[in-house]
Amino acid sequence: MTDTVLAGGMVFTPDGPREADVRVADGVITEVERSAAGRGARVIDVSGMYVLPGAIDVHVHSRDPGFPDKEDFGTLTSAAAAGGVTTVIDMPNTVPAVDAAGVLEAKAALAHAKARVDFGLWALIRSSSTPEQLAGLAAAGATGFKAYLGYAYSRSRKQVLYSVDLGNQDLEAPPDYGTLARLAPVIAELGLPLAIHAEDPGILKTFRRPYETYADVLAGQPPEAEAVAISAAAAVARQHGIHLHIAHLSSAAGLFAAEEALAVGTAMTLETCPQFLWLTEDDYVRLGTWMKMNPPVRTLGDRSALRDGLRRGAIGIVATDHAPHTDAEKGRDLEHAPPGSPGVQTLYLSSLELARDLGDVWMAPRWVCEAPAALAGLTESKGRIAAGFDADVVVVDPARSTTFGPRMMRSRQRHGALNGLKSSFAIDSVYVRGIPVFSGGRIGSRVTGRMVRPSRAVRAAT
Ligand code: DOR
Ligand code: ZN
Repeated sequence: MTDTVLAGGMVFTPDGPREADVRVADGVITEVERSAAGRGARVIDVSGMYVLPGAIDVHVHSRDPGFPDKEDFGTLTSAAAAGGVTTVIDMPNTVPAVDAAGVLEAKAALAHAKARVDFGLWALIRSSSTPEQLAGLAAAGATGFKAYLGYAYSRSRKQVLYSVDLGNQDLEAPPDYGTLARLAPVIAELGLPLAIHAEDPGILKTFRRPYETYADVLAGQPPEAEAVAISAAAAVARQHGIHLHIAHLSSAAGLFAAEEALAVGTAMTLETCPQFLWLTEDDYVRLGTWMKMNPPVRTLGDRSALRDGLRRGAIGIVATDHAPHTDAEKGRDLEHAPPGSPGVQTLYLSSLELARDLGDVWMAPRWVCEAPAALAGLTESKGRIAAGFDADVVVVDPARSTTFGPRMMRSRQRHGALNGLKSSFAIDSVYVRGIPVFSGGRIGSRVTGRMVRPSRAVRAAT
């Protein structure tokens, strides 16, 4: 195969941005030098453009298998490709829930048949999970384990539910801190991260109320629910030497609890999402249930604390919690509309915009590429523009802006909480292992996605 060279762009290298040509052969970056063009290669002129590593969104919900009317792996990964996300790590609350090796393997086969970008798979921790099941999931290639504290499981539907109520025999109790402590030794041995949905079920139950107004949401899911869950899970993680990952951090109180745990040496990564970095409670008037999600978008003070945590490096990862539902479902009232909003397509552009606002646009690839690669055990292959890495490359046009809205959205759900936001950048073209998956406003014709598996060697070292 002829080599390809992306020539003349401003390349984000591990040492920072510099003008260089990026040479690609057989899906791998072979050279990042001023003079890498020529020598029999196909040259693509990207002068004036940024050449960035593809993003790794460590928190998406494909809905596949289970709810193809909300999304499937094809539509999810088309949206990812259009947004410069070249790897997605999918959450395990698909149906059947990913609680055993066989389920993960079947999901991997299904995803492989449809995915346009690379993908990894999180595995589910249930209150009934056994060490053998976890070992099987790890052997099948799981990126790590996810525990939804407070989310019950329906045995007959093989499905994680949003409810904390245990009304009937069909429901298995949600995993709690006891579940985490029981399984922590095997998680430590497997060397995989434990991600948590951090809302303390006891606090949620106490404050639960019908949601008539957005004030009810904020009162029903108070920030201390997040802080308590983080502190408790961190104590377990520290005790057993496991790596804890906090999904979708939403509050100043949660950040404070996490920083306390980090200060005493807990191995922990923090993830927040564009919706918590851009929106506040006041946006509910404009967005209505498009803004309903768990945990909720909170106050201006929370948003400022999260932005500051990101700028300081306490929060390392921005991921989306891409969680599409149908128009009909989101059209219900605040109490009954399901939580979640699509976001994978707008991860990169919103992060570049925020990084620019915070004073250094080059922070964005660290939030959406480098730190996520470390969490997912992919630091040997993804997240950087450097020789030997997969040619997952995003060409960004800094001279063209993008306004987020339903017309551009490739997800099956075209409305998202960030609709209306403007980024001063545009995605020009996107490559997954050297294969064009998006250019000229169009998705590539090939189904190219492959499953990624964490490298144990990498995990042990980080
Ligand atoms: O808003 C949310 N939606 N939060 C979650 O934790 C789950 C997600 C979903 O799967 O819909
Ligand atoms: Zn989620």
